[in-house]
Amino acid sequence: MLEVVSPDGRIRFTLEISDFGIPRYSVAFNDEQVIAPSALGLRFERNAGLDRNLALGAVERASTDRSWEQPWGERRLVRDKHNEMFVVLDATRGPGRNLGLRVRVFNDGLGFRYELAEQQHFDDVDIVAELTEFRIPPRARGWWIPGRAWNRHEFLYRETGLKEIALANTPATFRLASGTHVSLHEAALVDYAGYVLDQRRDGVFRTNLTPWSDGIRVKTRAPFVTPWRTIQIADSAAALLNSDLLLNLNEPNVLGDVSWVEPGKYIGIWWAMHINERTWGSGPMHGATTEEAKRYIDFAAEHGFDGVLVEGWNVGWDGNWFFNGAAFSFTEAYPDFDIDAVTAYASERGVRLIGHHETSGHVTNYEKQLDDALDLYASRGVRQIKTGYVADGGDMVRIDDDGVRHLEWHDGQFAARHHVRVLEEAAKRKISINTHEPIKDTGLRRTYPNWISREGARGQEFNAWGTPPNPPEHTVILPFTRMLSGPMDFTPGIFDLTFAGDDADQRVSTTLMKQLALYVVLYSPIQMAADLPKNYDRFADAFQFIKDVPTDWEESIALSGEVGDFVVIARQERGSPDWYLGAITDEHARTIEVPLTFLAEGQRFEATIYRDGEGAHWRENPYSYRIERRELASDDTLNIELAAGGGTAIRFAPIE
Ligand code: NOJ
Ligand code: CA
Repeated sequence: MLEVVSPDGRIRFTLEISDFGIPRYSVAFNDEQVIAPSALGLRFERNAGLDRNLALGAVERASTDRSWEQPWGERRLVRDKHNEMFVVLDATRGPGRNLGLRVRVFNDGLGFRYELAEQQHFDDVDIVAELTEFRIPPRARGWWIPGRAWNRHEFLYRETGLKEIALANTPATFRLASGTHVSLHEAALVDYAGYVLDQRRDGVFRTNLTPWSDGIRVKTRAPFVTPWRTIQIADSAAALLNSDLLLNLNEPNVLGDVSWVEPGKYIGIWWAMHINERTWGSGPMHGATTEEAKRYIDFAAEHGFDGVLVEGWNVGWDGNWFFNGAAFSFTEAYPDFDIDAVTAYASERGVRLIGHHETSGHVTNYEKQLDDALDLYASRGVRQIKTGYVADGGDMVRIDDDGVRHLEWHDGQFAARHHVRVLEEAAKRKISINTHEPIKDTGLRRTYPNWISREGARGQEFNAWGTPPNPPEHTVILPFTRMLSGPMDFTPGIFDLTFAGDDADQRVSTTLMKQLALYVVLYSPIQMAADLPKNYDRFADAFQFIKDVPTDWEESIALSGEVGDFVVIARQERGSPDWYLGAITDEHARTIEVPLTFLAEGQRFEATIYRDGEGAHWRENPYSYRIERRELASDDTLNIELAAGGGTAIRFAPIE
């Protein structure tokens, strides 16, 4: 039996070889078993599996305690403190073959991965199954979305007991009967297949790797390493949010100087299409016209936004663009859009055009044009591109060298390779990428800091047309699930909450103040002010918060929360003494006591508090709000009152 313990002694990883030479690990937290003995191993198409008949071989140990700096992020300095073990599991039949297992145990969880050294008969390896299990204690409850399903990661989260979970995407988060919180995911998914959790026996979840269209899960050659299988562990829901485990398990920046990667805020020709006031395609309602782009650029310049996203300027959107990926040109504009005029107009006003590449999942069509598409934007001063892969899960198009068409998954090895290729090509041109309908986030922003954000969950757009729109609890589940994996381009800030009429089901199910709080709660280094400019003019005083709130942070602290109920997060602006706080709730009104201990001691702050007003309620009265100023310090405690579906946003600025 081998053990690795976290630096604070609370997490214990144990490895043993059980019957038939099957390696099993288990995990204890504060002496409570959080993962019961669970199998490990890999199976291959042409070789005997490395999943049984294994024996413990050589062991190496190491400890690390260092800090590293993020070019941008939810905190500047990240502490990487862990204990490590590398063990060789020798095959007892078929001499010379072995499976390496590397384990790193931190105070906030652990990761382990397989490492296959160069060895006989492993020049070409086709992995057909990974047998990693997570055996969760029976009375746990989970928050999860279905895995390998048509809408990729864009589902409402379900809260259920274990029995109801079949295939689930990760991060999937569990609360054990003891109150311990556990979240399962992976880190550093590079040239491998993403996995979904597959409940094979009661409470036993296996890593079911996303297959290629031919059924093979991963095509590789030894030596190789797999992504880290991660288990975040905390004694409260809020503590789960303060974990840097995934970033710590990714490789450092490989791009060198990334000062050209720019966090910031943007607006765009976007929501108008989602609420059917404009179209992506050409015609009388076309959104992406030169005129309209200039109008948005003026608004951006007036209110201090860095970028204007323009969707639908390039040829290919006519007809049913969901299914017409091959029709997209990434360089040819519709006649009513003059990219030279627009980018020149923008640069005179200190604003940048944000590029857009909707592929409709036709990856080959995109890759063929990738160089030209990126060159065009680069030469026009574009620093950021939003990409999109709208296609049902399993319908990403790959045309092989013989012209044969194959359909692949958004989380498979094909997609993993594609995204890294786009990042590398974009980086050569100092361009950052914001991926919609992405592969799952596994912390690769550390290695490729130009992967500035992504979607990968139900965002604001579902309020425009989703059935149902996002319910109030959606955004109090996201931080504890999807957002554990990294930034999300949720696109908050819709002020015309009842755009389809007061009684319509299609609406934004929050108070106006909750829209403000989302800028602090849902981390992304780029944040959109998603609504139409005219709606910001209607609520200019509330809009001030969106103008003030930064998107790059010195420090972030989750202060309190419960999955699916509420969450309170405070963040300090990078390079500034200012703090911001966001508090949001589900469909229940509540009052939360928040000690302001995060503020610098001995300093008085002016707090500008944007709070739900008299009688506010996400459905009955969403526009009621108040803006108050108060003098506060670190020894004060605030009672934050949240309306049903409400929120509070606060800016703290030091008083000289
Ligand atoms: C889906 C994206 O999430 C959305 O933001 C975008 O407007 C459409 N695809 C069109 O690309
Ligand atoms: Ca989407």
